[in-house]
Amino acid sequence: MQNPIICAVDTTDIAAAKTLAAQVRGHVGSLKLGLEFFTAHGAAGVSQIASPEFPVFLDLKFHDIPHTVAKAIKATAAIDTFLMTIHTAGGKAMMQAAAEAVSENAAKTGKARPMVVGVTILTSLDQNDLSSIGVSLQVSDQVVRLAELAQASRLDGVVCSPHEIEAIKRACGKDFKLIVPGIRPAGSEAADQKRVLTPKEAMDRGADYLVIGRPITGSTSPAQAAKEIFASLK
Ligand code: C5P
Repeated sequence: MQNPIICAVDTTDIAAAKTLAAQVRGHVGSLKLGLEFFTAHGAAGVSQIASPEFPVFLDLKFHDIPHTVAKAIKATAAIDTFLMTIHTAGGKAMMQAAAEAVSENAAKTGKARPMVVGVTILTSLDQNDLSSIGVSLQVSDQVVRLAELAQASRLDGVVCSPHEIEAIKRACGKDFKLIVPGIRPAGSEAADQKRVLTPKEAMDRGADYLVIGRPITGSTSPAQAAKEIFASLK
Protein backbone atom coordinates (compact mmCIF):
# COMPACT_ATOMS: atom_id res chain seq x y z
CA MET A 1 0.00 0.00 0.00
CA GLN A 2 1.49 3.34 -1.11
CA ASN A 3 -0.60 5.41 1.26
CA PRO A 4 -0.39 4.52 4.99
CA ILE A 5 -3.60 6.36 5.94
CA ILE A 6 -6.50 4.16 7.06
CA CYS A 7 -9.68 6.19 7.50
CA ALA A 8 -11.79 4.99 10.46
CA VAL A 9 -15.43 4.75 9.37
CA ASP A 10 -17.05 4.84 12.80
CA THR A 11 -20.73 4.63 11.87
CA THR A 12 -23.63 2.20 11.58
CA ASP A 13 -25.05 4.24 8.70
CA ILE A 14 -24.26 2.22 5.59
CA ALA A 15 -25.21 5.00 3.17
CA ALA A 16 -22.89 7.42 5.01
CA ALA A 17 -20.12 4.81 4.96
CA LYS A 18 -20.51 4.31 1.20
CA THR A 19 -20.51 8.06 0.55
CA LEU A 20 -17.37 8.50 2.65
CA ALA A 21 -15.68 5.57 0.92
CA ALA A 22 -16.40 7.12 -2.48
CA GLN A 23 -15.10 10.52 -1.30
CA VAL A 24 -11.81 9.40 0.18
CA ARG A 25 -10.92 6.53 -2.14
CA GLY A 26 -7.76 7.52 -3.96
CA HIS A 27 -6.67 9.74 -1.06
CA VAL A 28 -6.32 7.05 1.64
CA GLY A 29 -4.81 3.59 1.56
CA SER A 30 -7.83 1.91 3.11
CA LEU A 31 -10.84 2.20 5.41
CA LYS A 32 -11.36 0.71 8.85
CA LEU A 33 -14.69 -0.96 9.55
CA GLY A 34 -15.16 -1.97 13.16
CA LEU A 35 -17.52 -3.59 15.61
CA GLU A 36 -20.35 -1.10 15.31
CA PHE A 37 -20.55 -1.33 11.52
CA PHE A 38 -20.09 -5.11 11.48
CA THR A 39 -22.67 -5.70 14.21
CA ALA A 40 -25.20 -3.64 12.27
CA HIS A 41 -24.51 -4.93 8.75
CA GLY A 42 -22.40 -8.10 8.91
CA ALA A 43 -20.15 -9.43 6.19
CA ALA A 44 -22.66 -8.47 3.49
CA GLY A 45 -22.45 -4.84 4.60
CA VAL A 46 -18.65 -4.88 4.58
CA SER A 47 -18.72 -6.29 1.06
CA GLN A 48 -20.68 -3.24 -0.10
CA ILE A 49 -17.62 -1.15 0.77
CA ALA A 50 -14.68 -3.53 0.33
CA SER A 51 -13.47 -5.03 -2.95
CA PRO A 52 -10.41 -6.95 -4.11
CA GLU A 53 -8.92 -3.63 -5.34
CA PHE A 54 -9.86 -1.83 -2.11
CA PRO A 55 -9.56 -4.29 0.79
CA VAL A 56 -10.48 -2.91 4.23
CA PHE A 57 -9.12 -3.11 7.77
CA LEU A 58 -11.62 -5.34 9.55
CA ASP A 59 -11.27 -4.28 13.19
CA LEU A 60 -13.30 -6.87 15.11
CA LYS A 61 -10.82 -7.44 17.98
CA PHE A 62 -11.58 -11.15 18.43
CA HIS A 63 -11.00 -12.55 21.94
CA ASP A 64 -12.18 -16.07 22.78
CA ILE A 65 -10.83 -19.60 23.03
CA PRO A 66 -8.47 -20.56 20.16
CA HIS A 67 -11.02 -22.79 18.42
CA THR A 68 -13.71 -20.11 18.39
CA VAL A 69 -11.38 -17.35 17.20
CA ALA A 70 -10.07 -19.59 14.41
CA LYS A 71 -13.67 -20.36 13.34
CA ALA A 72 -14.61 -16.67 13.42
CA ILE A 73 -11.61 -15.82 11.25
CA LYS A 74 -12.50 -18.61 8.83
CA ALA A 75 -15.96 -17.06 8.60
CA THR A 76 -14.37 -13.85 7.24
CA ALA A 77 -12.86 -15.70 4.23
CA ALA A 78 -15.14 -14.03 1.68
CA ILE A 79 -14.45 -10.50 2.93
CA ASP A 80 -11.84 -8.45 1.09
CA THR A 81 -9.65 -7.45 4.01
CA PHE A 82 -5.91 -6.84 4.25
CA LEU A 83 -5.73 -6.45 8.02
CA MET A 84 -7.67 -7.77 11.02
CA THR A 85 -7.38 -7.58 14.80
CA ILE A 86 -7.48 -9.95 17.77
CA HIS A 87 -6.71 -9.36 21.45
CA THR A 88 -3.21 -10.39 22.57
CA ALA A 89 -4.69 -11.09 26.05
CA GLY A 90 -6.24 -14.21 24.48
CA GLY A 91 -2.79 -15.78 24.81
CA LYS A 92 -0.29 -17.54 22.60
CA ALA A 93 -2.43 -20.52 21.52
CA MET A 94 -5.24 -18.19 20.47
CA MET A 95 -2.92 -15.94 18.48
CA GLN A 96 -1.28 -18.92 16.76
CA ALA A 97 -4.71 -20.34 15.89
CA ALA A 98 -5.67 -16.97 14.38
CA ALA A 99 -2.47 -16.77 12.33
CA GLU A 100 -3.06 -20.29 11.02
CA ALA A 101 -6.72 -19.56 10.21
CA VAL A 102 -5.86 -16.59 7.97
CA SER A 103 -3.25 -18.67 6.17
CA GLU A 104 -5.83 -21.42 5.60
CA ASN A 105 -8.34 -18.88 4.29
CA ALA A 106 -5.77 -17.52 1.85
CA ALA A 107 -4.85 -20.99 0.65
CA LYS A 108 -8.53 -21.83 0.09
CA THR A 109 -9.67 -18.61 -1.54
CA GLY A 110 -6.51 -17.68 -3.45
CA LYS A 111 -6.76 -14.13 -2.05
CA ALA A 112 -3.74 -12.41 -0.51
CA ARG A 113 -3.28 -13.39 3.14
CA PRO A 114 -4.48 -10.56 5.39
CA MET A 115 -2.20 -9.47 8.23
CA VAL A 116 -3.42 -10.31 11.73
CA VAL A 117 -2.38 -7.84 14.39
CA GLY A 118 -2.91 -7.78 18.13
CA VAL A 119 -4.55 -5.25 20.40
CA THR A 120 -2.34 -4.92 23.49
CA ILE A 121 -3.70 -2.67 26.25
CA LEU A 122 -6.71 -0.61 25.24
CA THR A 123 -5.82 3.06 25.54
CA SER A 124 -9.01 3.54 27.56
CA LEU A 125 -7.30 1.64 30.42
CA ASP A 126 -4.89 3.36 32.82
CA GLN A 127 -2.54 2.08 35.52
CA ASN A 128 -5.38 1.79 38.07
CA ASP A 129 -7.47 -0.26 35.64
CA LEU A 130 -4.53 -2.63 35.11
CA SER A 131 -4.04 -2.99 38.89
CA SER A 132 -7.73 -3.76 39.31
CA ILE A 133 -7.44 -6.73 36.95
CA GLY A 134 -4.29 -7.95 38.70
CA VAL A 135 -1.64 -6.62 36.30
CA SER A 136 1.20 -5.02 38.26
CA LEU A 137 3.51 -3.97 35.39
CA GLN A 138 3.60 -0.39 34.12
CA VAL A 139 1.26 0.07 31.14
CA SER A 140 4.18 0.67 28.76
CA ASP A 141 6.04 -2.45 29.94
CA GLN A 142 2.89 -4.57 29.66
CA VAL A 143 2.33 -3.27 26.10
CA VAL A 144 5.86 -4.28 25.05
CA ARG A 145 5.49 -7.65 26.77
CA LEU A 146 2.26 -8.36 24.87
CA ALA A 147 3.78 -7.16 21.59
CA GLU A 148 6.67 -9.60 22.08
CA LEU A 149 4.19 -12.40 22.81
CA ALA A 150 2.24 -11.47 19.68
CA GLN A 151 5.43 -11.67 17.63
CA ALA A 152 6.35 -15.05 19.18
CA SER A 153 2.83 -16.22 18.24
CA ARG A 154 3.43 -15.26 14.58
CA LEU A 155 1.15 -12.23 14.47
CA ASP A 156 2.16 -9.61 11.92
CA GLY A 157 2.14 -6.67 14.32
CA VAL A 158 0.10 -4.78 16.91
CA VAL A 159 -2.14 -1.75 17.23
CA CYS A 160 -0.44 0.81 19.47
CA SER A 161 -0.52 4.38 20.68
CA PRO A 162 1.88 6.80 18.93
CA HIS A 163 3.87 6.98 22.17
CA GLU A 164 4.58 3.25 22.17
CA ILE A 165 5.96 3.05 18.61
CA GLU A 166 9.64 3.37 19.43
CA ALA A 167 9.68 0.94 22.38
CA ILE A 168 7.84 -1.73 20.37
CA LYS A 169 10.05 -1.31 17.29
CA ARG A 170 13.12 -1.59 19.57
CA ALA A 171 11.78 -4.81 21.08
CA CYS A 172 10.25 -6.43 17.98
CA GLY A 173 12.23 -5.03 15.04
CA LYS A 174 11.29 -2.94 12.04
CA ASP A 175 9.32 -5.61 10.15
CA PHE A 176 6.77 -5.99 12.96
CA LYS A 177 3.87 -3.83 11.74
CA LEU A 178 2.53 -1.02 13.89
CA ILE A 179 -1.00 0.26 13.27
CA VAL A 180 -1.34 3.59 15.04
CA PRO A 181 -4.50 5.53 16.01
CA GLY A 182 -4.47 8.68 18.18
CA ILE A 183 -3.27 10.82 15.28
CA ARG A 184 -4.09 14.50 14.91
CA PRO A 185 -2.83 16.82 12.16
CA ALA A 186 -1.33 20.03 13.60
CA GLY A 187 -4.09 22.42 14.64
CA SER A 188 -6.95 19.91 14.65
CA GLU A 189 -9.22 19.04 17.59
CA ALA A 190 -7.86 16.31 19.84
CA ALA A 191 -11.44 15.64 21.18
CA ASP A 192 -11.28 12.54 23.42
CA GLN A 193 -7.80 11.50 22.26
CA LYS A 194 -5.40 12.48 25.03
CA ARG A 195 -1.87 11.69 23.90
CA VAL A 196 -1.75 12.49 20.20
CA LEU A 197 1.00 12.92 17.62
CA THR A 198 0.82 14.42 14.15
CA PRO A 199 0.78 12.05 11.16
CA LYS A 200 4.36 12.97 10.24
CA GLU A 201 5.65 12.54 13.80
CA ALA A 202 4.07 9.09 14.02
CA MET A 203 5.54 8.02 10.66
CA ASP A 204 8.96 9.38 11.64
CA ARG A 205 8.85 7.28 14.82
CA GLY A 206 8.18 4.16 12.76
CA ALA A 207 4.40 3.75 12.34
CA ASP A 208 3.44 1.53 9.39
CA TYR A 209 -0.23 2.59 9.15
CA LEU A 210 -2.08 5.58 10.60
CA VAL A 211 -5.70 5.11 11.70
CA ILE A 212 -7.39 8.49 11.37
CA GLY A 213 -11.08 9.11 11.95
CA ARG A 214 -12.58 12.47 12.80
CA PRO A 215 -9.88 14.71 11.26
CA ILE A 216 -11.06 13.22 7.94
CA THR A 217 -14.66 12.15 8.56
CA GLY A 218 -15.58 15.36 10.42
CA SER A 219 -14.17 17.62 7.72
CA THR A 220 -16.44 19.47 5.28
CA SER A 221 -14.29 17.90 2.55
CA PRO A 222 -13.04 14.46 3.63
CA ALA A 223 -11.15 14.06 0.34
CA GLN A 224 -9.30 17.34 0.80
CA ALA A 225 -8.53 16.54 4.46
CA ALA A 226 -7.10 13.15 3.52
CA LYS A 227 -5.10 14.69 0.67
CA GLU A 228 -3.58 17.29 2.99
CA ILE A 229 -2.68 14.67 5.59
CA PHE A 230 -0.98 12.56 2.93
CA ALA A 231 0.93 15.61 1.63
CA SER A 232 2.07 16.39 5.21
CA LEU A 233 3.88 13.04 5.38
CA LYS A 234 6.41 13.99 2.72
O1 C5P B 1 -11.59 9.90 15.24
P1 C5P B 1 -10.26 9.31 15.64
O2 C5P B 1 -9.13 9.69 14.72
O3 C5P B 1 -9.94 9.55 17.09
O4 C5P B 1 -10.50 7.74 15.43
C1 C5P B 1 -9.52 6.81 15.76
C2 C5P B 1 -10.01 5.43 15.50
O5 C5P B 1 -9.07 4.52 16.07
C3 C5P B 1 -11.35 5.08 16.13
O6 C5P B 1 -11.95 4.09 15.30
C4 C5P B 1 -10.97 4.48 17.46
O7 C5P B 1 -11.92 3.58 17.95
C5 C5P B 1 -9.69 3.74 17.08
N1 C5P B 1 -8.77 3.50 18.18
C6 C5P B 1 -8.24 4.49 18.98
N2 C5P B 1 -7.36 4.20 19.97
C7 C5P B 1 -6.99 2.93 20.16
C8 C5P B 1 -7.49 1.92 19.37
C9 C5P B 1 -8.39 2.23 18.36
O8 C5P B 1 -8.57 5.65 18.80
N3 C5P B 1 -6.10 2.67 21.08
